[in-house]
Amino acid sequence: MSQNTTYKIAAIPGDGIGVDITEAAIQVLDTIASTNGSFKFEYTTFDWSSKKYLERGWYMQDDWEAQLKKHDAIYFGAVGWPDVPDHISLWQMILPIRQRMNQYVNVRPTRILKGTHPPLAQLQQKPSDLDWIIVRENSEGEYAGQGGTTHGHTSHATATEVAIFTHVGIERIMRFAFETAKSRPRKKLTMVTKSNAQRHGMVLWDKVFYEVAKDYEGVVEYDKMLVDAMTVRMVNKPESLDTVVATNLHADILSDLAAALAGSIGIAPSSNLDPTRSCPSMFEPIHGSAPDIAGKGIANPVGAFWSAAEMVRWLGKGELDKVADQFMQAIENVTANKETRTRDMAGSANTKAVTEAVCREIEKVCKA
Ligand code: NAI
Ligand code: MG
Repeated sequence: MSQNTTYKIAAIPGDGIGVDITEAAIQVLDTIASTNGSFKFEYTTFDWSSKKYLERGWYMQDDWEAQLKKHDAIYFGAVGWPDVPDHISLWQMILPIRQRMNQYVNVRPTRILKGTHPPLAQLQQKPSDLDWIIVRENSEGEYAGQGGTTHGHTSHATATEVAIFTHVGIERIMRFAFETAKSRPRKKLTMVTKSNAQRHGMVLWDKVFYEVAKDYEGVVEYDKMLVDAMTVRMVNKPESLDTVVATNLHADILSDLAAALAGSIGIAPSSNLDPTRSCPSMFEPIHGSAPDIAGKGIANPVGAFWSAAEMVRWLGKGELDKVADQFMQAIENVTANKETRTRDMAGSANTKAVTEAVCREIEKVCKA
């Protein structure tokens, strides 16, 4: 990284609280850049949303791929609004972006930030008992988009939703998961499956996992869990898990459970990565547009900030890890203080107050 690197960011606020938290994330990203001084961000904001879809009939322009590819990363708020069926909003925007930008990995870290109140604290000896990274397959599986409906408007309506598993797709996610596990202190990977009932795709999933595991023998400790039993283990024995790899659907569900166990869905981040770096990767909190609290200015921006910190880490290719760590430290200093926590974290601060507190804290932490 040279001095004064400019990172071009495509910002897609989307719907509901996606708009508030994207604005907040940009404010803290600019603070971290100006405090550090060696890099800056330049944003292109795309007004792609359900509201605009209702006016215009489209979410993204025809040349959306070319437009996004001009950027180093994508920052995404949330998409989805009650007036538009969710499968339309998801399939007209977020899922095509993940697929066409080759973002085949979705990384979802969870840990108990200072000041959070995990609902099952009595099951955890100490907050560090819950410190996981869920690696979600992000391009195929149950969300591959294969299927169809026939006789749709009759009582004989038939619909299929075909889960696709390819050797190439499984192998690359398993390698990424083993590498992630290897990079963490505990070097431990749990593979989630349902190969007892789903006897084709999931059996291939398991087979490729064990093939890849041979390359990590003695380096990474690994085990296998059926997805239903996994929910029990996450609740009862959080300390027995570290890195987890699961399919698109399974990891989608498990990561919401992980977020709830860690205290709030408003905290949890995610990175949609193209590990080959041929396309921009996309960073977004895992929550949705939260129509129930949209427009009230009370959304928790912490998941958006954590996602932004992961974006900084990714853009820096190893050279901004310290900055990303300082960013996380600033976030945690703020969550530790009841005065600067939002309602979902048993506080009463609004989005703006938390954002300003994180900006002040960034200045303190970076200058310390
Ligand atoms: P949601 O995550 O939007 O909300 C679930 C609950 O958590 C709500 O009670 C909400 O108020 C609360 N919540 C979520 N984020 C919060 C935050 N930052 N601070 C405080 N409270 C927060 O999920 P829901 O209600 O199932 O979906 C709403 C819409 O969002 C739907 O249209 C759905 O399709 C869409 N969605 C979009 C996603 C994306 O863009 N990646 C992901 C998940 C849902
Ligand atoms: Mg989800």
